[in-house]
Parts: sequence; C-alpha cells; structure tokens
Amino acid sequence: MSEHERTFVMVKPDGVQRGLIGDIVSRFEDRGLKMVGGKFMQIDQELAEEHYGEHADKPFFDGLVDFITSGPVFAMVWEGQDATRQVRNMMGETDPAESAPGTIRGDYGLDLGRNVIHGSDHEDEGANEREIELFFDEDELVDWDQIDSSWLY
Ligand code: PPS
Repeated sequence: MSEHERTFVMVKPDGVQRGLIGDIVSRFEDRGLKMVGGKFMQIDQELAEEHYGEHADKPFFDGLVDFITSGPVFAMVWEGQDATRQVRNMMGETDPAESAPGTIRGDYGLDLGRNVIHGSDHEDEGANEREIELFFDEDELVDWDQIDSSWLY
C-alpha cells in the first residue's frame, strides 16, 4: 500500500445533472485525499465502449453506454494512502439500495444504473492504471504537495 496510490473516479451524468460535483469533491478532500487530475468532459461512444469493455456481454451494456454518453461527466484522479479502497468505501455498493446512508450512493442514489459515481475496482489490480491512462494524458496529472500534510495520515 502506497501513500501515493492513485485512483480513477468519475461523477456520472446523473451526478453532474443534479449538481453533486462539489459535494463529491468535498467529501474526498475532507477525507484527506488529494486531487491530482480533473476533467469536465463528454464521453463519446468509443471511449464508453472501451471503458466498460469488460461488461460487453452483459445485458445492461448498451444501456450503460447510452447512459454514460448521455451528458457530461467529471473525471478525476485522487491520490492518497490506500486511495482506491478508501474511495470505494465512500462510494457505497453498486446498487444504491444496498448502500449505507453516509456513502455517496447511499445518500444520493436510487437506481442501479444511475448510481452517481464510478470508481476503479480495488479488486482488479490493473484497473486504476488502465482507466487513468484511458481518460488522462500524463501531462494532465499534477504532482503537488499539500502544505503540512504529514498529520493527514
Ligand atoms: S458485475 O456484473 O458485477 O461485473 O457488474 P458491476 O461491477 O456490479 O457493475 C458494472 C457497471 O455496470 C453498472 N451496472 C448496471 N447498469 C445498468 N443497469 C444494470 N442493471 C447494471 N448493473 C450494473 C454498474 O453501475 C457498474 O458501473 P460503474 O460505473 O463501474 O460503477
């Protein structure tokens, strides 16, 4: 586990439409994670199909691609100790109905498809690197130090 682990996170179109970007960013900042990349963008069909490629044979795949391309998203890279697992815990479960209040999906989600946020799978070792590379060029990620951040961990 590294103090500088990086994880890919995205506010999905429903989260953007509902004005939740600021709240979601605040939650990660409050937790002590550090944003090293952020991009407000529209995902096209090709990127969507690549990003969700592992689910291509699932019955919900076409709907998932339609949804993620239906409006802008806010893609981010967050850095910190055990960042992937921290973010996944804060997100809640895939199904908002299974997500505890206090988690992002537990507070804002109702629908299995429209579940507000995506985060890289901490059980899939290559997922972070793959997704960060898919969404960000190397020069779009910023190395910076939080002033006096030693007490955060
Ligand atoms: S699986 O089957 O366990 O691999 O799927 P899971 O990891 O739970 O979900 C993968 C992504 O697909 C979305 N999903 C759905 N979208 C629409 N309808 C249905 N029924 C559905 N089931 C799963 C789910 O939100 C995941 O999206 P991300 O962006 O990865 O969170």
